[in-house]
Amino acid sequence: MGKSNNPFLYLPTTRMFPLISLFLLFHVPASWAASDSAHNAFVQCLSSQIKQPAQISKIVYAQNNPSYSSVLRAYIRNARFNTTSTPKPVIIVTPTEESHVQGAVICAKKNGIHLRIRSGGHDYEGVSYVSQDPFVILDMFNLRSVVVDAKEETAWVQVGATLGEVYYNIWQNSKLHGFPAGVCSTVGVGGHLSGAGYGFMVRKYGLTTDNVLDAKIVDVNGKILDKTSMGEDLFWAIRGGGGASFGVILAFKIKLVPVPEKVTVFRAERSLEENATDIVYRWQQVAPTTDDNLFMRMLIQPVTSKVKKGEKTIRASIVALFLGKADDLITLLSKEFPELGLKKNDVMEMSWIEFVVWAGAGDGNVTSPKVLLDRHPDTAIFGKRKSDYVQKPISKAGLESIWKKMIELGKVGLVFNPYGGKMNQVQASALPFPHRAGNLFKIQYSISWQDAGIEAEKNFITQSRSLYSYMTPFVAKNPRSAYLNYRDLDIGINHHGKNSYAEGKVYGTMYFHENFDRLVKIKTKVDPDNFFRNEQSIPTLPHN
Ligand SMILES: Cc1cc2nc3c(=O)[nH]c(=O)nc-3n(C[C@H](O)[C@H](O)[C@H](O)COP(=O)(O)OP(=O)(O)OC[C@H]3O[C@@H](n4cnc5c(N)ncnc54)[C@H](O)[C@@H]3O)c2cc1C
Ligand SMILES: *[C@@H]1O[C@H](CO)[C@@H](O)[C@H](O)[C@H]1NC(C)=O
Ligand SMILES: *[C@@H]1O[C@H](CO)[C@@H](O)[C@H](O)[C@H]1NC(C)=O
Ligand SMILES: *[C@@H]1O[C@H](CO)[C@@H](O)[C@H](O)[C@H]1NC(C)=O
Repeated sequence: MGKSNNPFLYLPTTRMFPLISLFLLFHVPASWAASDSAHNAFVQCLSSQIKQPAQISKIVYAQNNPSYSSVLRAYIRNARFNTTSTPKPVIIVTPTEESHVQGAVICAKKNGIHLRIRSGGHDYEGVSYVSQDPFVILDMFNLRSVVVDAKEETAWVQVGATLGEVYYNIWQNSKLHGFPAGVCSTVGVGGHLSGAGYGFMVRKYGLTTDNVLDAKIVDVNGKILDKTSMGEDLFWAIRGGGGASFGVILAFKIKLVPVPEKVTVFRAERSLEENATDIVYRWQQVAPTTDDNLFMRMLIQPVTSKVKKGEKTIRASIVALFLGKADDLITLLSKEFPELGLKKNDVMEMSWIEFVVWAGAGDGNVTSPKVLLDRHPDTAIFGKRKSDYVQKPISKAGLESIWKKMIELGKVGLVFNPYGGKMNQVQASALPFPHRAGNLFKIQYSISWQDAGIEAEKNFITQSRSLYSYMTPFVAKNPRSAYLNYRDLDIGINHHGKNSYAEGKVYGTMYFHENFDRLVKIKTKVDPDNFFRNEQSIPTLPHN
C-alpha cells in the first residue's frame, strides 16, 4: 500500500457539523415513521425468540439509544458514508450468540423488515450499513472467536473476527503457519471470505476462499446449516459469491498454510526519471510468471518530482513478499529482473507475522504483533475503489500514455496485483470467482482523501472514473471484469427494492462471468423471495 494512497491510514478527520443535522434530529423521515410499528413488532418478536429476554437491551440499539451513534460509527470504514444525509438504520442488532442471529432473521422476515449484515464494515460502497430502504443492521462484531487447531492445521473463525485477530491467533499457536488473506488487519472475516479475498500469498496458495473447508450459515428460515446440511451448491456460492445474497454466515473453518521461519520482504521505488516505465513494463513479464513463493505488488501514483522542481512525475513502488531466504531472492531476481538491481541491503528477513505487521503499517515499521488486535473503531478516511483485469502486457507507449493521464488527473493511483502460480491451476468454475488462468494481474483504482465536502468528493470520484474509462483499451473486455470485494456501484446496481435479473446480469457478469447463472439458480432455490438483498446482490429467476 502506498503511503498517501494507503486506505489503512486511520487519520482523524476534522469535520464540520452542519446545521442540517440539527434539523434531522427533530425530523423523522416519513418512511421511518410509517415502519415504526413493524420495528416495534420486530423487537417484540426478537425478545420472544431469544433465551434470555432481559438481554434484549444489550443487543438492540434504536435511534433514541444514547449508544446508537457510537455503535453505528464503530465499523463505518469509509467516511463517505458517515454524513448526516447518509440513510441510517432504524435499529442495530448486535448478536452475542448464534441464536440471536436466528431470531433476527426470523423476526425480520416475519415483519417485512429489510436487513443489512455487517462484519468488519470494509465494504467500499458501505453496502453493509447503508440502504435506501428502511432497514436494520445485523452487526456481527461480537461474534469473533478464533479457535486454532495447530495439529489439524485448521481454525474455526467467527465472521466478526478481523484478519488481524485471525493472524495473531494463528501465530500464538504456531510460528510455522499463516493464512493467505488480505493485508489490512481490520478487514472482517464475514465479507472478506464470502467475497473471495486475497493477499500476498495468492500466487502460492490461491484466494482466501480457496482455503475454506466448512462454514456455518443461518438461512432465510432461521436454520443453522453447515457444509453437509447446506449442500454443495450453497457451500460453493458463499465462497466468493458474496454471503449477503444467501444468508447470514456465522463462521468459517479455514485451512492454515505453512510459512517458513523467515520470509524476505522488500520495497523498491522508481520515478519516471529512474526508468519507472521500464521497470513496470518488465514487471508485467516477471511478476505473474516468477517463482510462486514471490509476490510483488506494484503501486503507481502521481507525485511531485524530486529531480525537476515543481513538476509531476510517476512513482512506481514494488512491495514484495518472498517465502524464502534473502540470498535465494537476490539470486532469483538478478536472473529474472536485473533491471531492478536489487541488493542484499535492499531486503529484510523477518518472521511471517512481522511481515503482516510491516505490510499493514505501510511505513516500514515492524512493531509488536499485538497491533494486529487494534480494531480502530470509528476512524475512516474518504475513498473510492474500482477494479479491472489485465490479460496482455501493456506496451511502453501504452504505459507512457497512462502516466500522462494520471499526472493530468492528479491523485488517483493504481495497484497492480500479480496472478499466476496457484491462480492458474484452479478452474474458473471451481468457485464463483472466475478470474483465474489467463489473467496477468488485477488493477485496483485507488483514491483516498481526508476532507469532507461534496466538491472534493465529486472531483476525486470523477478522477477515478476518468482513469477507468481511459484504461478501456488495456484491460480485459467481453466481459470487462471486476472483483466483488472491490465493490463498485458504478458498474451497475439493482435499483431500489428491485430484483431484476437484467440489472443483476450487468454487474453479475463482470464479477462472476459464467458463474453468474449458477449463482442465480442457487439464490432462487435458497431464498426465493429475495429476503437477503442489496444493490449488487444475486437476483432470483423471474417467477413464471
Ligand atoms: C482498508 C481495506 C483494505 C482491504 N484490503 C483487501 C485485501 O488486501 N484483499 C482483499 O481481497 N480485499 C481487501 N479489501 C476489501 C475487503 O475484502 C472487502 O471490503 C470485504 O468484503 C470486507 O469484509 P468486511 O466484513 O470487513 O465488510 P462488510 O462491509 O461488513 O461486508 C461486506 C459485504 O459482505 C456482506 N457480509 C458481511 N458479513 C456477512 C456475513 N456474516 N454473512 C453474510 N454476508 C456478510 C455485507 O453485507 C456486505 O455486502 C480491503 C478493504 C479495505 C477497506
Ligand atoms: C536508466 O536506464 C538507462 C539506460 O538503460 C541507464 O543508463 C540508467 O542508469 C538507468 N537509470 C537508473 C536510475 O536506473
Ligand atoms: C515507527 O514507529 C514509531 C513508534 O510508533 C514512530 O515514532 C515512527 O515515526 C515510526 N516510523 C516511521 C518511519 O513511520
Ligand atoms: C463520523 O463523523 C463524526 C463527526 O460527525 C466523527 O467524529 C467520526 O470520527 C466520524 N467517523 C468515521 C468513521 O468517519
